[in-house]
Amino acid sequence: MAERSSFVVVANRLPVDEVTTPEGRQWRPSPGGLVTALHPVLVRERGTWIGWAGGTGDAPEPFELEGINIHPVPLSAQELERYYEGQSNATIWPLYHDAVETPAYKRSWRETYRAVNQRFAKAAAEVAAEGAVVWVQDYQLQLVPAMLRELRPDLKIGFFLHIPFPPIELFMQMPFRTEILRGLLGADLVGFQQRLAAQNFVRLARHLLGLRYEGQMIQVDGRQVKAGAFPISIDTAQMEQLAADPAIQARAKEIRGELGNPKTVILGVDRLDYTKGIELRLKAFRELLADGKLTVPEAVMVQVATPSRERVEHYQALRVKVEREVGRINGEFGRVGVPAVHYLHQSYSRSELAALYSAADVMMVTPLRDGMNLVAKEYVASRADTGGALVLSEFAGAATELRQAFLCNPHDPEGVKEVLLRAVNIEPAEARRRIRVMQRHLRTHDVEHWARSFLNELGVPEAA
Ligand code: ADP
Ligand code: G6P
Repeated sequence: MAERSSFVVVANRLPVDEVTTPEGRQWRPSPGGLVTALHPVLVRERGTWIGWAGGTGDAPEPFELEGINIHPVPLSAQELERYYEGQSNATIWPLYHDAVETPAYKRSWRETYRAVNQRFAKAAAEVAAEGAVVWVQDYQLQLVPAMLRELRPDLKIGFFLHIPFPPIELFMQMPFRTEILRGLLGADLVGFQQRLAAQNFVRLARHLLGLRYEGQMIQVDGRQVKAGAFPISIDTAQMEQLAADPAIQARAKEIRGELGNPKTVILGVDRLDYTKGIELRLKAFRELLADGKLTVPEAVMVQVATPSRERVEHYQALRVKVEREVGRINGEFGRVGVPAVHYLHQSYSRSELAALYSAADVMMVTPLRDGMNLVAKEYVASRADTGGALVLSEFAGAATELRQAFLCNPHDPEGVKEVLLRAVNIEPAEARRRIRVMQRHLRTHDVEHWARSFLNELGVPEAA
C-alpha cells in the first residue's frame, strides 16, 4: 500500500487537467488559486488531493504531480447526472444562492449524492495517516465530514464552503436537511466566506437539532464544532506580476486596438451562470445606449462567459436569454464591423484574462448572490497603477472587503445604470486612488493568508 498522507484535501475536482501533447495524453496542474495556496503544505506533508478527474467510467490510477499525490475518484455517467448535475447543481447550488432559480428536488439525486460522498469519504479514510488533517471542500461534499469521522475518529477534519450558506428559512426547504447539517457537523471546523453565513449555520444547528452554542462554538455529541468566516482570495502577487508582464501589456493594447480603440471598454468575465447577473448587466448597458447616455463606438462591452454545467436546464435557459439579449443590443446599436457587445462563450488562459483585465476601463461584477467572486479581486490586482473602475454587487462576498468599488444593488436596474455611468465617468486620479486602497488590502489578504488562517484555526502547526 502507498505511503499514507498527514494532509489530505478532498474536493469534487482534482487540481489537474488532462492535455494532449506530442508524447500522448498527460496531466498538467490546473492554475487554480486553491492549489497554489495549498501547494507548500501538500508538498511538505506528502499531501494527497482526492477528487474527480472529469469524465465518466474508470478513474486513472493514483499518481504524483509536482510533489502532490493525486487520487482520482471515479463517477459513472449516471452519477455525473444525479450527484453532480442534479443534487449538487440543480438542488444545492440554486438553493444556497437565495433560490434565484427554483431548486429541483429528487430522491434519486439525493441517494446518489450520498453514495458518491461515501466514496470520497472512504478514499480519504484509506489515504490519511493516523491523526492526519483532512480538509474537505465545498457543497458537493457536505456529507463527507460525518462519514469520514465515522470511519476514522482519529482524524482532524476541516470543511470549507465556497458558496453562500443560506438563512434558515431557505435551508429548511431541503428534503434531507438534517442529514446535510449532520454531515457538516462531522467536521471540527466549518469555514464560510462571510460572518453572516457562519451565523446562519450555528443558528440552524440550534433550530434543527436543538444544539447549544456559545459564540461560534457548537456542542455536538460531546464534541465541539467551530464555525467561522474565512474569506477566500487570490494569489495577488502572481496576478500582479502577470499583469505587469510587458507581453501582457502589449496584448492589452492590441485588444483595445481590435475593439476599435474605444474611449471606454466595459468588461464582464464569468462562468455562464444565472447567479452572476449577466443579463441585468447587458440590460443596463442597452438602456444607457437607448437613453443616449453611452454611445457606440465610444463605449463597447466585452462579455466573456465561460461554458459551465451545460446539461443543467437552468444553464441552458440562461444561455438562450443572454445570447438573445446580446443579439438585440448588437442589432439595435451595432454597425457593420462595430458591434456594441463582444460576446465570447469560451474559456481563456490566465494570460489572456490578465490582458483583458488590463484592457478594461470598467469591470462589471454584478451577481445576484455570490460566495466571494474572485474575478473582482483579479481585476483589482491586475490594474498596476493604471486605475480602472470596479462595479460590484453588494451581494458578492467580495463587497465586504472591496469597499472602494462602485457598489450596486443588482435588483435595482436604475441603480445599476447610475453606478455604471459614474464608473465610466470617474476621474483617473480618483480611480487610481480607489484601486490602490483595494490592492493594498489584497496584498495582505491573499489566498495564502486564507489557507493559513483556516489551518491555524484547525490547529495545524505552521500551516501553509
Ligand atoms: P465561480 O467560482 O463561481 O466561477 P469566481 O469569480 O469566484 O466564480 O471564480 C472564477 C474563476 O474562474 C476566476 O479565477 C476566473 O479567473 C476564472 N475564469 C472565469 N472565466 C474564465 C474564462 N473564460 N477562462 C478562464 N478562466 C476563467
Ligand atoms: C464554484 C464552486 C466550485 C466549482 C466551480 C466550477 O467556484 O464553488 O466548487 O468547482 O464553481 O464549477 P464546476 O461545476 O465546473 O466544478
